[in-house]
Amino acid sequence: MSTAVRAVKIAPSLLSADFARLDTEIHDVLEGGADLLHLDVMDGHFVPNITFGPPVVKSIRGCTDAVLDCHLMISDPTKYVEAFCDAGADWVSIHAEVDDDVDQALDMILAKGKRAGIVLNPDTPVEKAAPYLEKCGLVLIMSVFPGFGGQSFIPDVLDKVRALRQMDYAGEISIDGGIAEATAPQAVEAGVDILVAGTAVFGQDNRKAAIETLRGAAA
Ligand code: DX5
Ligand code: ZN
Repeated sequence: MSTAVRAVKIAPSLLSADFARLDTEIHDVLEGGADLLHLDVMDGHFVPNITFGPPVVKSIRGCTDAVLDCHLMISDPTKYVEAFCDAGADWVSIHAEVDDDVDQALDMILAKGKRAGIVLNPDTPVEKAAPYLEKCGLVLIMSVFPGFGGQSFIPDVLDKVRALRQMDYAGEISIDGGIAEATAPQAVEAGVDILVAGTAVFGQDNRKAAIETLRGAAA
């Protein structure tokens, strides 16, 4: 048990949901106490996997008022961020590693009145986020290499969470990958505000119990 006092938020990742039953899956986790929904967008180029695009985000927007946190694992965010905002995303996060104009993409998200976020892969130093922090309400720390659910948590990334807490940054910190009952306490202790969890929520039959387990572990 950690001594952290912040109330952690739980963000189930739809990557591990049944995509043919998304409406039911979404309401299952929201009624189970989820604070927001994490949507993993993969382009088959920035990461070796493909998921979904703006039309699916729009459909999800149509079935819930919950905060939609879109994690864009795509190479060309400047081409697509506006489409995700228009589809109904509330938060749009892009990777710092992309070979694109990150500042411009963040500005486009902010111009749509949405929350902008920057994402760091496990091997990307925290300094890479520094130039963008002023524009960001979210920093998403990857605790696995992105592309797939069900991977093992990389504890070394927690040093970046601790470093961010020492920097001039007032927004939220989210962690994504391998979050479960055993790893959630370490993340919250390090200073994380939001736990993204795919397998640990959608991989369980009782999603309410799964969310309560995560929240209890992090308390
Ligand atoms: C990985 C995604 C994650 C993924 C986490 O590329 O960004 O959001 O769904 O899945 P788990 O919780 O199973 O590690
Ligand atoms: Zn994600």
